[in-house]
Amino acid sequence: MAIERTLSIIKPDGVKNNHVGEIIARFEKAGLKPVAIRRQQLSQAEAEGFYAVHKARPFFKDLVSFMISGPVVLMALEGENAVQKNRDLMGATDPKKADKGTIRADFAQSIDANTVHGSDSLENAKNEVAYFFRETEIHG
Ligand code: PPS
Repeated sequence: MAIERTLSIIKPDGVKNNHVGEIIARFEKAGLKPVAIRRQQLSQAEAEGFYAVHKARPFFKDLVSFMISGPVVLMALEGENAVQKNRDLMGATDPKKADKGTIRADFAQSIDANTVHGSDSLENAKNEVAYFFRETEIHG
């Protein structure tokens, strides 16, 4: 299976509720290595740019204001089948619909405060990793 990289964001609720360590442990146990990692307060412009694809959706403003409501942890994860593996570990967008044992089922409160973001395709993963990390900041 191919070794891929994907972008993971631990959102402000996950950071505020002290779930950073547990979430990273789940990734590592599943074979996803954080090859770049940074705790950061996103600016409005950074969050709007990152979610530009959702600009026309009714929840865009709420999503951006939530993402800048506190620090996040940005990570590039590397491993076999990393994009899909990360999505499987995260669970469904709406925590009420997420499978038992997934990050969102265990830690998320609502569809907006849903604890983690993960790239949804290999192409988006490449763009999203590059949005936040320079190649020189990634160490496999
Ligand atoms: S997904 O995971 O991209 O398929 O989900 P999608 O439904 O397309 O949602 C895209 C992102 O928007 C967030 N979202 C919301 N935020 C605030 N309010 C509401 N109602 C809402 N619905 C969806 C969702 O968490 C996704 O964020 P990311 O960071 O991409 O996971």
